[in-house]
Amino acid sequence: MAILLDMSRTHVPVLAGELIDLVRPARGETAVDCTFGAGGHARLVAERLGPAGTLVCIDRDPAAEARFEDLARGAPCETRFLRMDYADGLALLRDEGLPADLVYLDLGVSSMQVDARERGFSYSYDAPLDMRMDPSQELDAREIVNDWDERRLAQLFQRFGEDPNARRIAREIVRRRERAPIETTGELVSAIEAALPAAVRRRFGGGHPAKRVFQAVRIAVNEELDSLDRALPLAWELLSADGRLAAIAFHSLEDRRVKRFLAERARGCICPPDFPICVCGREPEAELLTGRALAPTPGEIAQNPRAKSGRLRAARKLGAGEAGP
Ligand SMILES: C[S@@+](CC[C@H](N)C(=O)[O-])C[C@H]1O[C@@H](n2cnc3c(N)ncnc32)[C@H](O)[C@@H]1O
Repeated sequence: MAILLDMSRTHVPVLAGELIDLVRPARGETAVDCTFGAGGHARLVAERLGPAGTLVCIDRDPAAEARFEDLARGAPCETRFLRMDYADGLALLRDEGLPADLVYLDLGVSSMQVDARERGFSYSYDAPLDMRMDPSQELDAREIVNDWDERRLAQLFQRFGEDPNARRIAREIVRRRERAPIETTGELVSAIEAALPAAVRRRFGGGHPAKRVFQAVRIAVNEELDSLDRALPLAWELLSADGRLAAIAFHSLEDRRVKRFLAERARGCICPPDFPICVCGREPEAELLTGRALAPTPGEIAQNPRAKSGRLRAARKLGAGEAGP
Protein backbone atom coordinates (compact mmCIF):
# COMPACT_ATOMS: atom_id res chain seq x y z
CA MET A 1 0.00 0.00 0.00
CA ALA A 2 1.46 3.39 -0.98
CA ILE A 3 1.04 5.97 1.78
CA LEU A 4 1.67 9.65 1.13
CA LEU A 5 3.77 11.00 3.95
CA ASP A 6 3.66 14.53 5.29
CA MET A 7 7.35 15.38 5.02
CA SER A 8 6.93 18.59 7.02
CA ARG A 9 6.58 16.52 10.20
CA THR A 10 9.77 16.18 12.19
CA HIS A 11 9.79 12.40 12.38
CA VAL A 12 8.95 10.46 9.23
CA PRO A 13 7.42 7.07 10.17
CA VAL A 14 9.43 4.15 8.81
CA LEU A 15 7.86 1.22 6.90
CA ALA A 16 4.45 2.79 7.56
CA GLY A 17 2.59 1.32 4.58
CA GLU A 18 4.10 -2.10 5.23
CA LEU A 19 3.07 -2.00 8.90
CA ILE A 20 -0.53 -1.12 8.04
CA ASP A 21 -0.70 -3.77 5.30
CA LEU A 22 0.58 -6.46 7.65
CA VAL A 23 -1.38 -5.78 10.80
CA ARG A 24 -4.55 -4.43 9.14
CA PRO A 25 -6.06 -2.29 11.91
CA ALA A 26 -9.84 -2.59 11.59
CA ARG A 27 -12.80 -0.48 12.69
CA GLY A 28 -13.71 -0.92 16.35
CA GLU A 29 -10.42 -2.59 17.30
CA THR A 30 -8.14 -1.73 20.23
CA ALA A 31 -4.51 -0.98 19.41
CA VAL A 32 -1.46 -0.17 21.53
CA ASP A 33 1.32 2.01 20.06
CA CYS A 34 4.25 1.40 22.43
CA THR A 35 6.52 4.08 20.97
CA PHE A 36 4.37 7.07 20.05
CA GLY A 37 7.19 9.50 19.09
CA ALA A 38 5.66 12.08 16.77
CA GLY A 39 2.63 9.85 16.22
CA GLY A 40 3.28 9.06 12.55
CA HIS A 41 2.24 5.42 12.79
CA ALA A 42 -0.41 6.22 15.40
CA ARG A 43 -2.24 8.60 13.05
CA LEU A 44 -2.45 5.99 10.32
CA VAL A 45 -3.69 3.36 12.77
CA ALA A 46 -6.20 5.74 14.44
CA GLU A 47 -7.82 6.55 11.08
CA ARG A 48 -8.46 2.86 10.51
CA LEU A 49 -9.84 2.14 13.99
CA GLY A 50 -12.64 4.68 13.57
CA PRO A 51 -14.93 6.12 16.28
CA ALA A 52 -15.64 2.73 17.90
CA GLY A 53 -11.92 1.90 18.16
CA THR A 54 -9.39 2.71 20.88
CA LEU A 55 -5.73 3.61 20.54
CA VAL A 56 -3.51 3.54 23.64
CA CYS A 57 -0.23 5.39 23.06
CA ILE A 58 2.88 4.99 25.21
CA ASP A 59 6.14 6.95 25.28
CA ARG A 60 8.45 7.94 28.09
CA ASP A 61 9.48 11.22 26.51
CA PRO A 62 7.45 14.30 27.54
CA ALA A 63 8.08 15.72 24.04
CA ALA A 64 6.06 12.79 22.66
CA GLU A 65 3.25 13.50 25.11
CA ALA A 66 3.06 17.06 23.77
CA ARG A 67 2.73 15.60 20.24
CA PHE A 68 0.02 13.25 21.47
CA GLU A 69 -2.11 16.24 22.52
CA ASP A 70 -2.25 17.25 18.82
CA LEU A 71 -3.46 13.78 17.85
CA ALA A 72 -5.98 13.57 20.68
CA ARG A 73 -7.65 16.80 19.53
CA GLY A 74 -10.15 15.59 16.96
CA ALA A 75 -8.77 12.05 16.87
CA PRO A 76 -10.85 9.67 14.76
CA CYS A 77 -10.97 7.13 17.64
CA GLU A 78 -10.80 6.98 21.45
CA THR A 79 -7.26 7.78 22.60
CA ARG A 80 -5.24 7.53 25.78
CA PHE A 81 -1.60 8.32 26.59
CA LEU A 82 0.70 6.64 29.11
CA ARG A 83 3.97 8.47 29.77
CA MET A 84 6.16 5.63 30.97
CA ASP A 85 8.41 2.83 29.83
CA TYR A 86 6.44 0.72 27.37
CA ALA A 87 7.10 -2.46 29.35
CA ASP A 88 5.54 -0.81 32.43
CA GLY A 89 2.70 0.50 30.25
CA LEU A 90 1.95 -2.96 28.90
CA ALA A 91 2.03 -4.42 32.43
CA LEU A 92 -0.44 -1.74 33.54
CA LEU A 93 -2.79 -2.52 30.64
CA ARG A 94 -2.52 -6.21 31.40
CA ASP A 95 -3.42 -5.56 35.05
CA GLU A 96 -6.39 -3.47 33.90
CA GLY A 97 -7.52 -6.46 31.83
CA LEU A 98 -7.36 -4.69 28.48
CA PRO A 99 -7.62 -7.11 25.55
CA ALA A 100 -5.78 -5.71 22.52
CA ASP A 101 -6.17 -6.57 18.86
CA LEU A 102 -2.94 -4.94 17.86
CA VAL A 103 0.32 -4.03 19.62
CA TYR A 104 3.26 -2.51 17.78
CA LEU A 105 6.66 -1.06 18.61
CA ASP A 106 8.83 1.23 16.48
CA LEU A 107 12.06 0.96 18.42
CA GLY A 108 14.93 3.35 19.10
CA VAL A 109 14.98 7.12 19.01
CA SER A 110 12.87 9.57 17.03
CA SER A 111 14.24 12.27 14.75
CA MET A 112 12.78 14.78 17.22
CA GLN A 113 15.12 13.39 19.88
CA VAL A 114 18.21 13.10 17.66
CA ASP A 115 17.71 16.58 16.22
CA ALA A 116 17.18 18.26 19.62
CA ARG A 117 20.88 19.16 19.92
CA GLU A 118 20.80 19.84 23.63
CA ARG A 119 19.68 16.26 24.39
CA GLY A 120 23.06 14.87 23.39
CA PHE A 121 21.88 11.90 21.28
CA SER A 122 23.87 12.88 18.22
CA TYR A 123 27.59 12.77 17.48
CA SER A 124 26.96 15.49 14.86
CA TYR A 125 26.33 18.27 17.39
CA ASP A 126 28.32 19.35 20.42
CA ALA A 127 26.08 19.17 23.48
CA PRO A 128 26.12 18.00 27.11
CA LEU A 129 26.36 14.20 27.38
CA ASP A 130 22.77 13.26 28.18
CA MET A 131 20.86 10.82 25.89
CA ARG A 132 17.95 10.25 28.29
CA MET A 133 14.60 9.61 26.61
CA ASP A 134 12.97 10.32 29.96
CA PRO A 135 14.69 13.48 31.24
CA SER A 136 13.53 12.76 34.80
CA GLN A 137 15.59 9.60 35.15
CA GLU A 138 18.92 9.82 36.99
CA LEU A 139 21.32 7.81 34.84
CA ASP A 140 22.65 9.77 31.88
CA ALA A 141 25.46 9.38 29.35
CA ARG A 142 27.80 11.59 31.37
CA GLU A 143 27.66 9.20 34.31
CA ILE A 144 28.37 6.15 32.15
CA VAL A 145 31.26 7.75 30.28
CA ASN A 146 32.88 9.16 33.43
CA ASP A 147 32.08 6.61 36.15
CA TRP A 148 32.12 3.17 34.55
CA ASP A 149 35.51 1.45 34.76
CA GLU A 150 37.52 0.68 31.64
CA ARG A 151 36.52 -2.99 31.46
CA ARG A 152 32.83 -2.22 31.79
CA LEU A 153 33.03 0.49 29.11
CA ALA A 154 34.84 -1.86 26.71
CA GLN A 155 32.17 -4.53 27.29
CA LEU A 156 29.44 -1.97 26.69
CA PHE A 157 30.95 -0.82 23.36
CA GLN A 158 31.46 -4.44 22.34
CA ARG A 159 28.04 -5.77 23.32
CA PHE A 160 25.73 -2.91 22.52
CA GLY A 161 27.79 -1.21 19.80
CA GLU A 162 29.44 -4.32 18.31
CA ASP A 163 32.49 -2.05 17.97
CA PRO A 164 35.69 -3.89 17.01
CA ASN A 165 37.74 -1.09 18.62
CA ALA A 166 35.90 -1.20 21.94
CA ARG A 167 38.96 -1.73 24.15
CA ARG A 168 41.06 0.92 22.44
CA ILE A 169 38.26 3.47 22.79
CA ALA A 170 37.58 2.60 26.44
CA ARG A 171 41.30 3.01 27.22
CA GLU A 172 41.43 6.46 25.60
CA ILE A 173 38.27 7.62 27.41
CA VAL A 174 39.73 6.59 30.78
CA ARG A 175 43.08 8.24 29.94
CA ARG A 176 41.35 11.54 29.09
CA ARG A 177 38.95 11.63 32.00
CA GLU A 178 41.84 11.23 34.45
CA ARG A 179 42.78 14.79 33.45
CA ALA A 180 39.23 16.21 33.34
CA PRO A 181 35.71 14.79 33.12
CA ILE A 182 34.28 14.24 29.64
CA GLU A 183 31.30 16.58 29.64
CA THR A 184 30.13 16.87 26.05
CA THR A 185 29.37 14.80 22.96
CA GLY A 186 32.16 16.71 21.19
CA GLU A 187 34.69 15.60 23.82
CA LEU A 188 33.51 12.01 23.51
CA VAL A 189 33.82 12.11 19.71
CA SER A 190 37.31 13.56 20.06
CA ALA A 191 38.34 10.72 22.43
CA ILE A 192 36.98 8.11 20.01
CA GLU A 193 38.79 9.68 17.07
CA ALA A 194 42.03 9.89 19.04
CA ALA A 195 41.74 6.20 19.96
CA LEU A 196 41.64 5.12 16.34
CA PRO A 197 44.72 5.27 14.16
CA ALA A 198 44.14 6.84 10.73
CA ALA A 199 44.21 3.42 9.01
CA VAL A 200 41.44 2.09 11.27
CA ARG A 201 39.39 5.24 10.77
CA ARG A 202 39.64 4.90 6.97
CA ARG A 203 38.09 1.43 7.29
CA PHE A 204 34.86 3.01 8.54
CA GLY A 205 34.32 4.29 4.97
CA GLY A 206 31.26 6.57 4.98
CA GLY A 207 30.23 5.64 8.57
CA HIS A 208 31.10 7.92 11.47
CA PRO A 209 33.67 6.34 13.83
CA ALA A 210 31.57 7.38 16.85
CA LYS A 211 28.32 5.79 15.62
CA ARG A 212 28.70 2.46 17.42
CA VAL A 213 29.82 3.95 20.73
CA PHE A 214 26.94 6.46 20.71
CA GLN A 215 24.48 3.64 20.01
CA ALA A 216 25.93 1.58 22.87
CA VAL A 217 25.81 4.43 25.40
CA ARG A 218 22.25 5.35 24.37
CA ILE A 219 21.07 1.74 24.75
CA ALA A 220 22.64 1.56 28.22
CA VAL A 221 21.30 4.94 29.39
CA ASN A 222 17.76 3.98 28.40
CA GLU A 223 18.03 0.25 29.21
CA GLU A 224 16.53 -0.34 25.80
CA LEU A 225 17.15 -4.09 25.52
CA ASP A 226 15.79 -4.80 29.01
CA SER A 227 12.59 -2.94 28.14
CA LEU A 228 12.22 -4.90 24.91
CA ASP A 229 12.80 -8.23 26.67
CA ARG A 230 10.17 -7.39 29.27
CA ALA A 231 7.71 -5.96 26.75
CA LEU A 232 7.46 -8.74 24.17
CA PRO A 233 5.86 -11.37 26.47
CA LEU A 234 3.57 -8.74 27.98
CA ALA A 235 2.45 -7.58 24.54
CA TRP A 236 1.76 -11.18 23.55
CA GLU A 237 -0.24 -11.78 26.73
CA LEU A 238 -2.35 -8.69 26.03
CA LEU A 239 -3.37 -9.84 22.56
CA SER A 240 -6.69 -11.54 22.05
CA ALA A 241 -7.04 -14.40 19.53
CA ASP A 242 -6.31 -13.11 16.02
CA GLY A 243 -4.39 -10.19 17.58
CA ARG A 244 -1.27 -8.93 15.78
CA LEU A 245 2.13 -8.02 17.20
CA ALA A 246 4.61 -6.05 15.09
CA ALA A 247 8.00 -4.49 15.75
CA ILE A 248 10.33 -2.31 13.71
CA ALA A 249 13.96 -2.70 14.84
CA PHE A 250 16.94 -0.58 13.81
CA HIS A 251 19.88 -2.76 14.76
CA SER A 252 20.62 -6.46 14.99
CA LEU A 253 20.50 -6.59 18.82
CA GLU A 254 16.83 -5.61 18.74
CA ASP A 255 15.92 -7.45 15.56
CA ARG A 256 17.40 -10.72 16.84
CA ARG A 257 15.26 -10.49 19.99
CA VAL A 258 12.08 -9.85 18.03
CA LYS A 259 12.88 -12.62 15.53
CA ARG A 260 13.56 -15.19 18.27
CA PHE A 261 10.50 -14.22 20.27
CA LEU A 262 8.13 -14.57 17.31
CA ALA A 263 9.78 -17.75 16.00
CA GLU A 264 9.45 -19.34 19.43
CA ARG A 265 5.70 -18.65 19.46
CA ALA A 266 5.26 -19.99 15.92
CA ARG A 267 7.02 -23.22 16.75
CA GLY A 268 5.02 -26.43 17.17
CA CYS A 269 6.29 -29.84 18.29
CA ILE A 270 9.77 -29.85 19.81
CA CYS A 271 10.17 -33.63 20.12
CA PRO A 272 13.42 -35.08 18.74
CA PRO A 273 13.01 -36.02 15.05
CA ASP A 274 13.46 -39.76 15.76
CA PHE A 275 10.40 -39.90 18.09
CA PRO A 276 7.66 -41.87 16.32
CA ILE A 277 4.89 -39.73 17.84
CA CYS A 278 4.74 -36.31 19.46
CA VAL A 279 4.97 -36.46 23.22
CA CYS A 280 5.48 -32.75 23.93
CA GLY A 281 1.98 -31.79 22.80
CA ARG A 282 3.20 -28.34 21.96
CA GLU A 283 1.23 -26.39 19.38
CA PRO A 284 2.13 -23.13 17.67
CA GLU A 285 0.60 -20.03 19.21
CA ALA A 286 1.46 -17.77 16.32
CA GLU A 287 1.38 -17.45 12.58
CA LEU A 288 4.35 -15.49 11.29
CA LEU A 289 3.19 -12.65 9.02
CA THR A 290 6.76 -12.00 7.87
CA GLY A 291 9.04 -14.88 6.88
CA ARG A 292 12.02 -12.61 6.46
CA ALA A 293 11.97 -9.18 8.03
CA LEU A 294 10.63 -6.47 5.72
CA ALA A 295 13.12 -3.72 4.85
CA PRO A 296 12.40 -0.27 3.43
CA THR A 297 12.36 0.08 -0.35
CA PRO A 298 15.11 2.08 -2.07
CA GLY A 299 12.44 4.75 -2.69
CA GLU A 300 11.70 5.08 1.03
CA ILE A 301 15.42 5.24 1.87
CA ALA A 302 15.91 7.95 -0.79
CA GLN A 303 13.07 9.98 0.82
CA ASN A 304 14.16 9.23 4.38
CA PRO A 305 17.77 7.99 4.78
CA ARG A 306 17.12 7.30 8.49
CA ALA A 307 14.80 4.46 7.45
CA LYS A 308 17.72 2.48 6.00
CA SER A 309 18.30 0.00 8.82
CA GLY A 310 14.61 -0.51 9.72
CA ARG A 311 13.42 -4.13 9.81
CA LEU A 312 9.77 -5.02 10.36
CA ARG A 313 8.54 -8.35 11.73
CA ALA A 314 5.02 -9.35 12.71
CA ALA A 315 2.96 -12.31 13.83
CA ARG A 316 -0.70 -13.14 14.43
CA LYS A 317 -1.91 -14.88 17.58
CA LEU A 318 -3.75 -18.06 16.72
CA GLY A 319 -7.17 -18.70 18.19
CA ALA A 320 -8.17 -21.85 20.10
CA GLY A 321 -8.17 -24.85 17.76
CA GLU A 322 -6.51 -22.94 14.89
CA ALA A 323 -3.18 -24.67 15.32
CA GLY A 324 -4.53 -28.18 15.74
CA PRO A 325 -4.87 -30.85 13.03
C1 LIG B 1 11.39 5.61 16.50
S1 LIG B 1 10.51 6.60 17.61
C2 LIG B 1 8.84 6.27 17.22
C3 LIG B 1 8.30 7.12 16.11
C4 LIG B 1 6.82 6.95 15.84
N1 LIG B 1 6.48 5.61 15.45
C5 LIG B 1 6.37 7.93 14.80
O1 LIG B 1 5.93 7.49 13.72
O2 LIG B 1 6.43 9.13 15.05
C6 LIG B 1 10.69 5.77 19.12
C7 LIG B 1 9.97 6.41 20.28
O3 LIG B 1 9.91 5.42 21.30
C8 LIG B 1 10.17 5.98 22.54
N2 LIG B 1 10.74 4.91 23.36
C9 LIG B 1 11.85 4.18 23.12
N3 LIG B 1 12.02 3.26 24.07
C10 LIG B 1 10.99 3.40 24.93
C11 LIG B 1 10.58 2.71 26.12
N4 LIG B 1 11.30 1.70 26.62
N5 LIG B 1 9.46 3.09 26.73
C12 LIG B 1 8.70 4.11 26.23
N6 LIG B 1 9.04 4.81 25.12
C13 LIG B 1 10.15 4.45 24.47
C14 LIG B 1 11.16 7.10 22.28
O4 LIG B 1 11.04 8.07 23.29
C15 LIG B 1 10.69 7.59 20.90
O5 LIG B 1 9.79 8.66 21.05
